[in-house]
Amino acid sequence: MKDSDTQVQVYEFLKFFLGMASCLSNCVCLFGWNIGKNKTSDKPQTNYHKLDLPFPSSLLTKTFLNGKELKCCYKATLDGFSATSFHECSDFKGPCVIIGYTNNSFKFGAFNPEGYRSTDDYYDTFDAFLFYWADEEKDEPIVLPKVGGSGAALFDYARGGPQFGADGLLIGPPLAPVMGGFAGPDTNSGVGDLTQARSRLGLSYAKRADGKESLFGDESKASLEEVLVFCSPQIASLY
Ligand SMILES: *[C@@H]1O[C@H](CO)[C@@H](O)[C@H](O)[C@H]1NC(C)=O
Repeated sequence: MKDSDTQVQVYEFLKFFLGMASCLSNCVCLFGWNIGKNKTSDKPQTNYHKLDLPFPSSLLTKTFLNGKELKCCYKATLDGFSATSFHECSDFKGPCVIIGYTNNSFKFGAFNPEGYRSTDDYYDTFDAFLFYWADEEKDEPIVLPKVGGSGAALFDYARGGPQFGADGLLIGPPLAPVMGGFAGPDTNSGVGDLTQARSRLGLSYAKRADGKESLFGDESKASLEEVLVFCSPQIASLY
């Protein structure tokens, strides 16, 4: 009797230990995927860009990022404007704020409460929003909330940049269809270019305060000179 009790205990312990080991190896494996080219199993170091926040922290009072220290994890002019660079810098960083500058000195942004993971999926939420500055740096930004229900508020295409709604704000959208599987075996094909942005308001995000149906005003498209992503290093370190 005693022997079999011990055996059961040993068995239970082994099962527990193996479970832990398999979990650990899975984590390390997943982790290895995330860091891509980096061969070490050490936690990858995020190199944050030293930048002052280009938006008032009051913008985030109703979000998870309220009161959190925020740092710039992606700066397109340094890290590269390709959607691949955007994801390398922004994936697995938690909720984030995106700030864009057009070649007409128009400044705008967006809040993504889900963050990026290159899932090729979309997310329903009322917590995402767009914003823009009507008068350069003078004013607080004007916030454009999600409208038309919470559906498809955020898209996270691996080959695309930030996308809010089907049409609300697309920065560097994928150049080839990603849902239908037409993109082909070349994994670099169809990667979006974050210098290109377009917007249509009214269906997924509210129209501008002046009634205009593009975040960019009279033009539905814009050429971007800079795109920044801000995240909480504290939240990012949990991934
Ligand atoms: C901005 O870029 C667009 C498209 O490349 C171009 O047509 C436009 O003239 C540019 N505007 C300025 C102010 O450079």
